[in-house]
Amino acid sequence: MASSAEGVLPGRLAHGYWRAHEWGLSDNACLKLIHQVLETGIQCFDHAACYGDFRNEAEFGRALALEPALRERLYLVSKCGILFPNDELPHIQSHYYDNSRAHIIWSAERSIEKLQCGYLDLLLIHRPSPCAHPEEIAAAFDDLHCRGLVRHFGVSNYSAQKFSMLQSWLDQPLVTNQIEISPLQPAPFDDGSLDYLLEKRLRPMAWSPLGGGALFKPQNERSTRVAQALFAHGETYGENRLDTLVYAWLLAHPAGIMPIVGSGRLERIENASAALNIPFSEQEWLSVYTAAQGKPLP
Ligand SMILES: NC(=O)c1ccc[n+]([C@@H]2O[C@H](COP(=O)([O-])OP(=O)(O)OC[C@H]3O[C@@H](n4cnc5c(N)ncnc54)[C@H](OP(=O)(O)O)[C@@H]3O)[C@@H](O)[C@H]2O)c1
Repeated sequence: MASSAEGVLPGRLAHGYWRAHEWGLSDNACLKLIHQVLETGIQCFDHAACYGDFRNEAEFGRALALEPALRERLYLVSKCGILFPNDELPHIQSHYYDNSRAHIIWSAERSIEKLQCGYLDLLLIHRPSPCAHPEEIAAAFDDLHCRGLVRHFGVSNYSAQKFSMLQSWLDQPLVTNQIEISPLQPAPFDDGSLDYLLEKRLRPMAWSPLGGGALFKPQNERSTRVAQALFAHGETYGENRLDTLVYAWLLAHPAGIMPIVGSGRLERIENASAALNIPFSEQEWLSVYTAAQGKPLP
């Protein structure tokens, strides 16, 4: 199956920094990893203000500051709006979302400062809030775009209906919806999320494409079924890396899914890039889908 979706997202894969505080990298090691990720063909680096208790962006920024010229080779994504108690922002006393104009602008400016990147290529509203006013989001996006601080805008964890509603209030086009998609979270294939983006010719970003690592846990019955189906497909191509086969399955969907690789280990990032060489026919793709669903096709 071939992807028909277009959009501004660069390449087929992204590298995510949610778990970066677990990687234990020095600034130099982080810079080396950025170079190695680029060498695999990945240009898109996914961040959020809140990752690592609001500290991961600063770690990446310190690495980037060692080689500022690298900035122009990176497509930097960040997200805003999720707040919870943390040491960096001691005035935050509870867990809530803030999608007000003032907070979006403050958060984007803070991300740019922490990442030491001058501007963001893409800013996402991290989660929809049932009481966010779309006029506030529209005003924040216009302000950030006018000042050259953010090039593109999108959302994360939005339903198709919420995406469409928000877009109707904005002058800036939303370019993606970053949602959870994996063989352990196959709902977007059927709940309208991917159909809506396909209709709009926009590509989704997929978070936790390996189920946050749960796909490697044999005690999970669905993981075992999915692994069997993927290994059966892999035999045709001499491929037995489970992560490579999962990425290949996601990449083969016509929505042009951009999986976000969550590991800091180079070998596992390379396993993701290897997935670009493994095609799926519709029949082969559906064999994994039915394993994920746990029931045969109607
Ligand atoms: N928008 C949102 O709401 C949202 C939410 C969550 C995440 N995200 C984004 O999505 C990115 C990816 O999410 P994720 O980290 O959950 O992705 P993931 O790839 O589904 O899970 C990563 C986990 O799987 C493990 N893993 C990877 N390959 C493995 C292998 N071959 N064998 C065993 N374990 C393996 C990793 O361990 P190692 O680290 O040891 O390799 C890591 O613990 C995040 O970094 C973030 O940028 C966005």
